[in-house]
Amino acid sequence: MEQGNTAETPNLDVLVLAAGLGTRMRSDLAKVLHRLDGRPLINHVCRTATALAPRKIYVVIGHQGEDVKTVVLEELDEEQVAFVWQEKQLGTGDAVNAAREYLAGSDSTTVVLSGDVPMIRAETLAALVQEHRNYLDHGAACTILTVKLKDPTGYGRIVRDKDDRFLRIAEQKDATEDEREIREINSGIYCFNTRLLFAALSKVQNDNAQGEYYLTDVPALLNDAGENIAIYRHNDSREIEGINDRAQLADIERLLRRNTVSKLMLESGVTFIDPKTAYISEQARIGRDTVIHPNVFIEGETVIGAGCTVRAGTRITRSRVGDGVEILDNCVITDSTVGDNCTVGPFAHLRGSAKMEEKSKVGNFVELKKTTLGKGSKASHLTYLGDATIGEKTNIGAGTITCNYDGKNKHPTVIGDNVKIGSDTMLVAPIRVGDGAVTGAGSVVTKDIPENTLAVGAPARFIRKFSKE
Ligand code: UD1
Ligand code: CA
Repeated sequence: MEQGNTAETPNLDVLVLAAGLGTRMRSDLAKVLHRLDGRPLINHVCRTATALAPRKIYVVIGHQGEDVKTVVLEELDEEQVAFVWQEKQLGTGDAVNAAREYLAGSDSTTVVLSGDVPMIRAETLAALVQEHRNYLDHGAACTILTVKLKDPTGYGRIVRDKDDRFLRIAEQKDATEDEREIREINSGIYCFNTRLLFAALSKVQNDNAQGEYYLTDVPALLNDAGENIAIYRHNDSREIEGINDRAQLADIERLLRRNTVSKLMLESGVTFIDPKTAYISEQARIGRDTVIHPNVFIEGETVIGAGCTVRAGTRITRSRVGDGVEILDNCVITDSTVGDNCTVGPFAHLRGSAKMEEKSKVGNFVELKKTTLGKGSKASHLTYLGDATIGEKTNIGAGTITCNYDGKNKHPTVIGDNVKIGSDTMLVAPIRVGDGAVTGAGSVVTKDIPENTLAVGAPARFIRKFSKE
């Protein structure tokens, strides 16, 4: 092994370990595919890694590797990331070794991250890299991110000599009684001088309690060879918590949610009637003086404006809601847009790019699918509007249905401005209803209605034309 030459170029690569099954999850799904705040764990880690602006993020994949690849590429570009296969999961050292052909000869810094440590912040990683490069002026061979825990059970312990210098990492299953008392733990996040990392990896053996090739043996090997090992001790233990089982996943989910809700209260001026039962994604944005009632879910990149009320039991996913909107209890709004000063619900369902223009109203048991409801228009009760475009100031009576599906294809309905659709009208699509038209209660409309015309009956006949007034 070369010694004493740890100076590195500013080149930086990131290696994310994500090949394991995650036995302790007791799941058919690979651990890093489990979701935190609606996103796969691996995506939290990869997204944070991009903030370091590395040359490349290498993701080591194995269990359900194709699926891991697919979800990572949903958030990152092909140029940012490369995938490295680890055929058999022989340990974290073996996982890093899988990237040997891409990295070993490289005069660079390699940051190693774990796919199951999702809360790590970019600022912490940047500080770790800085510590690594500045250590004793010429940089360290390896810098380990550590933290002190009240309960270190399960983690690798940082063993130091009597002068407090790094000796080695003792894994939980290999540690002596005394070592298990140590509360400083290995986060599984490190910076390495790339050449020295791969040189040392060649010497790692698997003669330990788990019969695995431990990455955690590398720092001791480097230390024994006279290289400098730096320790960057962090103070926020929550940030480095690893997720090994579902209880830890639920803990982290709760932590993340609590942080998101307090930020919204303290920085955005949002009121929560009961912050403990608000399930708000960290990707969501909510405006000032909006009031969120209990058991509300706001998921994905949803934007809600200022001065809105969202009543209990509502779920809003990947949608945009304007200012001054009132959303009553138990609504489901997905991939849709609600304009300023609209009223929605209770028990309304908006989906498939539904769009409510300003001051429109959707009432109880009304479903809008791929439908635009124009400015000031209303559908107040028990209605299905699918593949429809509705003009301004139109009223859709109770029980109206757009019969948009003929068993094979979906057909559009177009309704003009100032229309009055009578209760229980069936609009058999494709169909157009002209401006100012009226339908009688219970009519079944099968032909286009001209403007300002009254249609009644089943099938509907056109009775008379109104004057413009
Ligand atoms: C590891 C560390 C431990 C540290 C802890 C922090 C080792 C030997 N131990 O333990 O010191 O305190 O993380 O969270 O490194 N993986 C692979 N291929 C493999 C094995 C694992 O890609 O062959 C991946 C896993 O998918 C996971 C990561 O490496 O994302 C860590 O593996 P895991 O088994 O969870 O290690 P820990 O027991 O938590
Ligand atoms: Ca782990």
